[in-house]
Amino acid sequence: MADPRLPTTFISGSRAGDPLLTDGVLRPIDWTGDVDGCIVMIDQTLLPNERRIIECRDTRSVHDAIRRLAVRGAPAIGVAGAFGAILAAREAAIGDRTGFLQRFNAICDHLAAARPTGANLRWAVNRMKHRAASICTSSSPSAAADPCEIARALLNEARAIRDEDAAMCRAIGRFGEPLIPDGGGVMTYCNAGALATAEYGTALAPMYEAQSRGRRFTVFANETRPLLQGARLTAWELSRAGVDVVLICDNMAAQVMKERRVQLVITGADRIAANGDTANKIGTYGLAQLARAHDIPFYVAAPSSTFDLSIAAGDAIPIEQRDPGEIREPFGVSIAPKMVSCYCPAFDVTPAELIRGIITERGIIHPVTPARVAAMIGHQV
Ligand code: MRU
Repeated sequence: MADPRLPTTFISGSRAGDPLLTDGVLRPIDWTGDVDGCIVMIDQTLLPNERRIIECRDTRSVHDAIRRLAVRGAPAIGVAGAFGAILAAREAAIGDRTGFLQRFNAICDHLAAARPTGANLRWAVNRMKHRAASICTSSSPSAAADPCEIARALLNEARAIRDEDAAMCRAIGRFGEPLIPDGGGVMTYCNAGALATAEYGTALAPMYEAQSRGRRFTVFANETRPLLQGARLTAWELSRAGVDVVLICDNMAAQVMKERRVQLVITGADRIAANGDTANKIGTYGLAQLARAHDIPFYVAAPSSTFDLSIAAGDAIPIEQRDPGEIREPFGVSIAPKMVSCYCPAFDVTPAELIRGIITERGIIHPVTPARVAAMIGHQV
């Protein structure tokens, strides 16, 4: 039975046997088959013009898919890492049983380093490593653990991570929905929707929830240079879901705020430090400053798996540097002198003081202080 609150696009885009559509619910990434199966994902680099599903049967192809943003958005990358660990177990099974765990951990560590800023990838891969270790240490001392048994346990664990992410997004939607102004405007940045998670989204979840309750509002989506996740993905996702979305260039945000077209800004997050400082797509920090200047509340939406309480403040969050060619030649089109220098950080950090609240699956953290973060997120899964 299709969930009526879901973006209809995903239902109308259905194809018989599509592994990413179950009961009308789109999952941008999933596992197909049994332990000998593989990862299936939508290649997000091709959206909105083409909906191509790719398969990953080894960790090298998962690493590549994460690096080139075929799968992107911190929670979805976490799911990719979780399923990738099953492939890691398959690869580590080649060789003597006693060395399995060491080989498995090394492959997992390589996978976890595919993108450095987001917390979810490392969080999910570490959880998979712990699961494998717990089986290996609990097996009888005379016989090393059976790789098939480990792979099956890892498949169950990865599916749990996927399902928990979906449930957390639903809860974020429910907590954030009252913030959406009826008859008003909301601004968002990058893509923190269904495509960026197991399903449904984080920053877009309150919007889907509000829409399902009959509220009418307009979403202003910043295009998000240089890779245009706002234009290609958010505008696509929201418009196909029947949400009123208006696409703007990033440099139009101040004017839109000055004209009082939006009463709220919500973005996603890639990693949140213990004090609430939040790393998200490059440009988010500027948007938060603009929101403060125009007295518009700026909210972040993220599951507990995006918090990294081992980091006290945002200046310790590593910022991924991308290929300057993404600025000079976006999508293969040359728009600048070939030899011009470019600087291409993929993320920036918004200080907690600019964030009105963080919408999590456990409730809204407000005000954003280390004590409130600890109280809400103190126990991570
Ligand atoms: O480089 P990307 O596309 O992976 O960046 C994505 C973002 O910055 C999102 O806002 C963030 O991951 C939150 S997704 C729910």
